[in-house]
Amino acid sequence: MDLGIAGRKAIVCASSRGLGRACAKALAEAGCEVVINGRDREQLAATAAELHQATSAKITPVAADVATADGQRALFDACPEPDILVNNNGGPPFRDFRELDRQKMLDGVIANMVVAIELTQKAIDPMVAKKFGRIVNITSGSVKAPIPGLDLSSGARAGLTAFFAGVARSVAAANVTINFLLPGAFATDRFQTYVETTMKRRGVSAGAALAERVAAVPAQRVGDPEEFGAACAFLCSAQAGYITGQNLLIDGGAFPGAF
Ligand SMILES: NC(=O)c1ccc[n+]([C@@H]2O[C@H](COP(=O)([O-])OP(=O)(O)OC[C@H]3O[C@@H](n4cnc5c(N)ncnc54)[C@H](OP(=O)(O)O)[C@@H]3O)[C@@H](O)[C@H]2O)c1
Repeated sequence: MDLGIAGRKAIVCASSRGLGRACAKALAEAGCEVVINGRDREQLAATAAELHQATSAKITPVAADVATADGQRALFDACPEPDILVNNNGGPPFRDFRELDRQKMLDGVIANMVVAIELTQKAIDPMVAKKFGRIVNITSGSVKAPIPGLDLSSGARAGLTAFFAGVARSVAAANVTINFLLPGAFATDRFQTYVETTMKRRGVSAGAALAERVAAVPAQRVGDPEEFGAACAFLCSAQAGYITGQNLLIDGGAFPGAF
């Protein structure tokens, strides 16, 4: 399927590894020029080289902390008027909510809510003027079904979802869409951290921790990041202009509700 976005310019935040990387790769395969981002300069350079080699697309690495004003400025210096913005960031560590002091709570809300709003503020007006814009926010299945120890993540991301629900409708007539991808369990470094945390907390082996997680997924497996990237690229496609304000769970059927 030709996604109709060849030549479009994309910023994919937090994309040197994991789900962000998979989204950047799928957009590059669709012919986009992609700005990728991460804090570890070496990892980022390696990813940029791999993506360019795999897709021949123009890949621009911007080594920066997306949560900082300087980091956001660097992203927009590299791509002043993106057609596509994928908001992503690292998630907070697993923690009992009793351990969260005020600063940790504020940091979590900044990382998983405020940063996406700030970046969207910077990107959206040129999108509206051009009558094309695709904004995809990577949140989490925990927005719909809580995961113990990730309460801060769930709360901040649910806040982002509600915040953008209204904004999405305000720009829909200009062919600018804002959607959400809600990952379940995907095979990334972050997921590996989850397995290791479970091992330590429960005193079980890595195999047992993984098997326990997979047992809760009707698909009986962990997701492949490339599956996630493909869904992102479709939401960014020309054809997806009538899909906005939606939350797409990609979790192998783990969320048990009909809606
Ligand atoms: N994988 C899953 O199963 C799953 C499930 C639900 C939700 N999620 C959420 O989806 C998002 C992506 O997860 P993932 O599994 O892809 O994580 P990951 O494998 O740990 O990758 C995270 C990526 O984000 C970058 N990053 C982290 N903090 C950053 C910052 N402040 N500025 C710029 N780049 C930053 C990392 O690079 P550097 O470290 O070099 O900066 C890396 O490229 C997270 O918010 C996670 O909580 C994941």
